[in-house]
Amino acid sequence: MKHIVFLTGAGMSAESGISTFRDSNGLWENYDVMQVASIEGWYDNPDLVQQFYNDRRRQLKNAQPNEGHKIIAALEEKFQVTVVTQNVDNLHERAGSKQVIHLHGELTKACNESKTEVYDIGYEPITPGEKAKDGSRLRPFIVWFGEAVPMIDKAADAVSQADVVVIIGTSMKVYPAAGLVYYARRGVPIYLIDPKEVSAPPQVIVIQEKASDGMRKLAQLL
Ligand code: OAD
Repeated sequence: MKHIVFLTGAGMSAESGISTFRDSNGLWENYDVMQVASIEGWYDNPDLVQQFYNDRRRQLKNAQPNEGHKIIAALEEKFQVTVVTQNVDNLHERAGSKQVIHLHGELTKACNESKTEVYDIGYEPITPGEKAKDGSRLRPFIVWFGEAVPMIDKAADAVSQADVVVIIGTSMKVYPAAGLVYYARRGVPIYLIDPKEVSAPPQVIVIQEKASDGMRKLAQLL
């Protein structure tokens, strides 16, 4: 069975009403990305960061997977599919994808400060001052700028075994995620779906469309 590996970013969920990061001048839902998505931001103002992710969790509860997520999930009938996503939402899973690797964490989980304990919290808010079992502050289970990316090796393994790689809705600016494409074996077709021009390695086949339209086209080509 052919193995297709998807590398998805914020643009994958744009049609589900979730904002991308770099389409609005470095602001993300009106916040400076570094204020709400870096370890320094967390130490500076934990209450603001908690409130920000509580809002994102509430927004996610009301969001629905879009056609793009659904087509990816449906491909599992014919192919082995692995989704490697930078997104912290659960829309791939809710569309039915079974193999999802979250590089940057998951909104529906919380953890202690050392990230050794992880809890499912669904769409519930974390209250300011809430503690984990070890007495440290409970925090969103998100990989912030300045933190390690523990899932990167598993993701690189998947890409190195892929027969087809498909990149969707990522500006490819954030490493190590942006470097994953270089693990693809020589000769493996690499598609990129994005409505804007994105800098990508030369052999990439560009489908300049939104995720849903792009996936409709790609499904015909596979
Ligand atoms: P970006 O916001 O950097 O890029 C989103 C990409 O999606 C852009 O190339 C857009 O052109 C594209 N896009 C917009 N609408 C689209 C649509 N309907 N269909 C397909 N593509 C569309 O987001 P990421 O590359 O995911 O990290 O950002 C990477 C990381 O930076 C995030 O995971 C996050 C962020 O800061 C952390 O929080 C650690």
